[in-house]
Amino acid sequence: MTAQSSDFDDDMLSLAIARVSEMAAIASASLIGRGDNMAADQAAVTAMREELNKLAIAGVVVIGEGERDEAPMLYIGEEVGTGEGPGIDIALDPLEGTTLTAMDMPNALTVISMGPRHSMLHAPDVYMEKLAIGPGYADGVVQLTMTPAERVEALAAAKGVPMSDIKVCILERPRHEEMIAGVRSTGAAVRLIMDGDVAGVMHCAEPGTGIDMYMGSGGAPEGVLAASALKCMGGQIFGKLLFRNDDEKGRAAKAGITDLDRIYARDDMVRGDVLFAASGVTGGTLLPAIKTEGGRIITETLVLRSKTGEVRRIRREAPLA
Ligand code: FBP
Repeated sequence: MTAQSSDFDDDMLSLAIARVSEMAAIASASLIGRGDNMAADQAAVTAMREELNKLAIAGVVVIGEGERDEAPMLYIGEEVGTGEGPGIDIALDPLEGTTLTAMDMPNALTVISMGPRHSMLHAPDVYMEKLAIGPGYADGVVQLTMTPAERVEALAAAKGVPMSDIKVCILERPRHEEMIAGVRSTGAAVRLIMDGDVAGVMHCAEPGTGIDMYMGSGGAPEGVLAASALKCMGGQIFGKLLFRNDDEKGRAAKAGITDLDRIYARDDMVRGDVLFAASGVTGGTLLPAIKTEGGRIITETLVLRSKTGEVRRIRREAPLA
């Protein structure tokens, strides 16, 4: 199906998407550092859904909290909004970094993206092998088919720096030990993150983070959200779905995916122009933490628009409810 972009008024939706993101962050704020991942996630999900349902859109959740039988809210296929506006694909992760929030560790975000109907890959809830770099490089300078060391070598040559000047961000997981060793064998540095690979990918395109490349496996839904962010910020991301069993292959079939070995580039995952928003829950390299000061609650939200390349940072201050 082709993306229907004629009625996607992304300019008008910029503030709406920011509000949805902010409200999810505010809802999870009181749960930062309380050790309860599920409660923090639930608070963000409920708030995000409530805000989405106020919007004059005919929205469909294409990347959400899971399949309908396992997620009562914001499940894949749920219709949100008043139903009386433009048709919108919505990809969301109301709390990207539930453990980071529960443990008060950096870079927990609320994340949402919107695009015209049929513009986003319906990625099933499986793992995805990911590789991302920031803007300014020739297409395909690094590839998923390369070894980690080859990727570092190719990127260092393209950047015109020694391999020891390259820094790669990777999720700290036992399954990544070999990859980490491969990267380090070149002399490149590795920044390990505990969770939150949407932020991990965005680090490649955000000036000042010192991260050149992201690699490793993580959630496929997060892969589409990261592709959406890079579509706005510039940069490349490649993803390949990983299946551990027949149930996961069944999820792909249900999502209409027939080529299980396909490598998706950024624009295969996000085909039309999109809006992307993220609010800081715990502070990090992309966004400051949500905070309360003098009886007011303060959020900061990054709103990105792929059509124009606009980057907005919206600071909202309001009395504590
Ligand atoms: P949650 O916010 O749902 O906990 O996800 C955090 C996350 O780190 C994602 O950013 C990442 O894609 C995924 O989990 C990795 O999965 P796993 O923890 O199974 O390695």
